[in-house]
Amino acid sequence: MGKVFTHLKLLLIYCFIIPYVSFSQDTNVEGKINDIISKMTIKEKVGQLSQFSASLNPSLDIIKKGEVGSFLGIRGAYIINQFQKAAVEQSRLSIPLIIGSDVIHGYKTTFPVPLASASSWDTSLIRESARIAAMEASLDGIKWTFAPMVDITHDPRWGRIVEGAGEDPFLGSAVSGALVRGFQGDSLNDLLSLAACSKHYVAYGAAEAGREYNTTDLSERSLREIYLLPHKAAVDAGVATIMSAFNSLNGIPASANYHTLTEILKSEWGFKGFVVSDWNSIGELINHGIAVDKKEAALKGFTAGVDMEMIGDSTSGDTYPSNLPLLVAEGKIPISRIDESVRRILRVKFKLGLFDHPYTDTAKIKSIMLSREDRDSTALKLAEESIVLLKNNSGVLPLSNNIKSIAVIGPLADDNTDPLGPWANTPQPERVVTVLNGINKKFSSTVKINYVLGCSISDDDTSHFGEAVNAAVNSEMVIFVAGESSFMSGEAGSRTNLNLPGVQEDLLKRIYSAGKHVVLVLMNGRPLTINWEKENIDAILECWFLGDQSGNAVANILSGDYNPSGKLTITFPRSVGQIPIYYNYLNTGRPPIEEDRFTSKYLDMPNTPLFPFGFGLSYTTFKFDNMDIQKQKLGKKKINIVSIDVTNSGNMPGTEIAQLYLHKISSGVSRPVKELKGFQRIFLNPGETKKINFSITPGMLESYNTEMIKTIEPGKYDVMIGGSSDEVVSGSFEIVN
Ligand code: NOJ
Repeated sequence: MGKVFTHLKLLLIYCFIIPYVSFSQDTNVEGKINDIISKMTIKEKVGQLSQFSASLNPSLDIIKKGEVGSFLGIRGAYIINQFQKAAVEQSRLSIPLIIGSDVIHGYKTTFPVPLASASSWDTSLIRESARIAAMEASLDGIKWTFAPMVDITHDPRWGRIVEGAGEDPFLGSAVSGALVRGFQGDSLNDLLSLAACSKHYVAYGAAEAGREYNTTDLSERSLREIYLLPHKAAVDAGVATIMSAFNSLNGIPASANYHTLTEILKSEWGFKGFVVSDWNSIGELINHGIAVDKKEAALKGFTAGVDMEMIGDSTSGDTYPSNLPLLVAEGKIPISRIDESVRRILRVKFKLGLFDHPYTDTAKIKSIMLSREDRDSTALKLAEESIVLLKNNSGVLPLSNNIKSIAVIGPLADDNTDPLGPWANTPQPERVVTVLNGINKKFSSTVKINYVLGCSISDDDTSHFGEAVNAAVNSEMVIFVAGESSFMSGEAGSRTNLNLPGVQEDLLKRIYSAGKHVVLVLMNGRPLTINWEKENIDAILECWFLGDQSGNAVANILSGDYNPSGKLTITFPRSVGQIPIYYNYLNTGRPPIEEDRFTSKYLDMPNTPLFPFGFGLSYTTFKFDNMDIQKQKLGKKKINIVSIDVTNSGNMPGTEIAQLYLHKISSGVSRPVKELKGFQRIFLNPGETKKINFSITPGMLESYNTEMIKTIEPGKYDVMIGGSSDEVVSGSFEIVN
């Protein structure tokens, strides 16, 4: 009866609730939009399709003329209200502006970078962090964020890996939906909501050689089964806007790609919001070699389906405002197409309530937003959950109560800027708790803390090595805080060498020779090839960039006040030579066999990663057993339930992230060796066992067949459940026709 009820509930959610929250049309609003459009001149229409950077076009005249629909690059309720006043009270048709900004992982409160927060696998907390970011940005007059960034990537050389949720389309989709729901709240027409923007559409993360802005070349299958999925999840969650990407996709730039923008996004998925270009990505069609000049670029971008141009800086200039009116006059673009794009933009403005309450009412927002303490406590919780324990030999962590002295060494130990990570919107370094601050607060009443910087992140100065080694010699143990600066990842942050930069590893080796236990605390925006560290260092914490609460979170983990629960959402390679490397690969005809040279492998290194997807240790241990698959054989449209016992087999309470993977054994098309299809965070006390259930729904079994039609192939499926992609308990079931 319980199960029937669950299925009924799911049916209700899918049939009624999801369509209700999705970004839909509403007859009343559509009537108002038609009325406005009927009064607009071509210049006013194209104005709505144009977003200027406030620094490029600070004059209010263009607003009063109704020749701009949106700005980015301004913040502050006062100034934004001034801009809005010019639009609403001094332009002919009183159409409000929509002000956008990159609110990626927080606004004033900086949360962990997205690659970090995804490691929590805690979609409700991630959603909450976006909700808080939306509140804070709304208070500053912003109503639109260029987030979530949902690019899947298999390449840690690519700097923007830090902005997304990692390599997996299922987890990426869950995070994408959570972020959209967080930013947009229950209703866009809420003083605390922002319109979200799923970006970068599409396949930007498949850049060849991990080089920023580079070409991508993909099969339609990879596009649909991997790269499009988190965008689809955003659309299903009701995302209001989508950003077209910089890259070219199979020879056609993403910002001029009719297939992806119009055929898939707008027609197949029925997306009713609007598409904004990335910064000057329409102008860049000239460099891509598909347009001779800006006029042709505007024609191609607009015709493909980009509704609004994000205009670059003064050097790049605009393409839409100068050219769309001409293109319409010449009959190259029908006015009905212009109207359609204007309609999409006005629809978002109506949904945001901008026509009814265009101004930011700071007093009202302050009275309803969460308190500073609540926002900080969410930031701390997410930071704790984002940390991944990569190694913990001989129980070095949590730190013993008997320790009397600790050397805290490393360039990131007392750094209050880099932990904010790339795309910190309104960085407040003074609010950042550094690792040293956190350690001091937690331990200094009983432990002597000997802090030494030791070296910088990237230069080759070794003159302070001696001082650092002395501190290690004179302390019982060492906490070494190292990694990348925040500028080494993020946009245009591609790297070919993924070792610890500068002389950090050299210093670590010197400290290691002092013979003390060493804990390595890493801050970085991508997987690093930390082979020596994995081999030699006692304990390694992957902290990514944790934002404001960095030091408090790290100290809570070091002390054991929080038992690490994060799991990698991205594979760590042993070497750059293994890239692209990811867990859900296809098998080859010759899987690797050590003693057989003519199999798919390297001569100088195993195929396996340094740390696999889904991996992360805890201070306790977990055991998975007694897998039970409800139906051994079932029809295509049926739901199967698989259950398993998860036991905390260690001595501390802790949270395990149970991961469900599926694999189709034989099919018309090769299928990945495993694909994530579900996950659950489970808290267990020592000795406690919980039976957990996963529902295997028909949708989880679907894949594109040889004709590229979504199908469920009959035959055998492997089911795997475990605490990491490489450590699972397996079973199987069969789908019959
Ligand atoms: C370029 C970036 O690619 C994009 O992610 C961002 O939203 C825009 N600039 C605006 O800052």
